Amino acid sequence: MTKYLVIGDPVAHSRSPGMQNAAFEICGLGSPYGIRHVKPEELSDFFEYARTHFAGVNLTVPHKLMAAELADELTPRAKACKSVNTLIIKDGHILGDSTDGVGLERALLHNFGLPVKGKNFLFAGAGGAARATAIHFACEGAGQIIFANRTASKAQDIIDDIEALQTGCVCKCISPQDNCAMEDALKNSDCIIQATSLGLKEDDPAPFDLELLKVNLKLVIFDTIYKNTKLLQKAAELGIPCSGGKEMLIQQGAESFRLWTKLEPDLEAMRAGFELPPGGVEV
Ligand code: ATR
Repeated sequence: MTKYLVIGDPVAHSRSPGMQNAAFEICGLGSPYGIRHVKPEELSDFFEYARTHFAGVNLTVPHKLMAAELADELTPRAKACKSVNTLIIKDGHILGDSTDGVGLERALLHNFGLPVKGKNFLFAGAGGAARATAIHFACEGAGQIIFANRTASKAQDIIDDIEALQTGCVCKCISPQDNCAMEDALKNSDCIIQATSLGLKEDDPAPFDLELLKVNLKLVIFDTIYKNTKLLQKAAELGIPCSGGKEMLIQQGAESFRLWTKLEPDLEAMRAGFELPPGGVEV
C-alpha cells in the first residue's frame, strides 16, 4: 500500500520516488512511495485527504509556503523559515517540517567538508530555496550571510526574519549588479550558495558577473540547481571547488525518511535510486 508520496505542480520530474523507495526497499519495507500532481487550489483538500490516507508527504514547488499555513503543527525549524517540505502524519494529526536547510548543511559537509557554524555565506537569490536554507544556517551558527538578489525587498524580508530570531548571524543584502559590492562579498565568503532559479533553462543568464570569480578566491560554490550551470562551468574552469544540487536533494530526502521511519537510511542506496528515471506510481 502507498503510504508516502511527493506532491507538486509540476511533479512528474521528481526523483523522490526512486530514491525514497530505494531506502524503503533495503529496509525490507517494499516500495510504499508514490507521486501525485496537486495544484495550489487543491492543496487544502489534499491535506484533509492525506490526514487519513498517508503517513508521510514531501512537498515541492509551489506548495512549501502554503503548507506551513495548513499543517496542524510545525517543528521549530519549519516555524522559523515558514516553509514546509515534509509532513509527518499520525492519528490524523499533520506535523510540518522543513528538511531543506539540514539537507544543504549535510551536502556541504559531504561535498566539501564545510561546516555551517562560524562560516560566511553569499546567497545568490532570496526566493523560497534561499529562505528555507539561509534561516536554517543562521540558526546553526553561520557567522555572516550576504544576499545578492535582484529584488532587494525579498532579501530584506528574510533578513528581518533572521534578525527576529536573534541568532547573532550578521546579514546584509547587496545588488547582484553591483560589482564592487559583489567583489567584496566574494572576498569575505567561505561559500557561495546559488539559490536563484537561473540555470534551469539553457539560455538563462548567470546570477552575477562571472568575471568576478578569480582563482585566488578561497571559497567553495554550491549550486542548488541539478544541472551543469554556467556558474559551475566557470568555477570548474578556475579550479574552484564546486558542486550541483544533487546531494542536497539526497540529504533532504534522507532526513524525511528518518522522520517517518525512525530508521537510518542507506545513503548509497538513495544516491543510486536518485539516478533512476524520474516519476513514480501515481496515487
Ligand atoms: P524557489 O522556490 O526555487 O527559490 P522562487 O521563490 O520563485 O523560487 O525564487 C526564485 C529566485 O530566483 C529569486 O531569488 C528570484 O529573484 P527575485 O526575488 O528578484 O524574483 C531569482 N530569479 C529568477 N529569475 C531571475 C532573473 N531573470 N534574474 C535575476 N534573478 C532571478
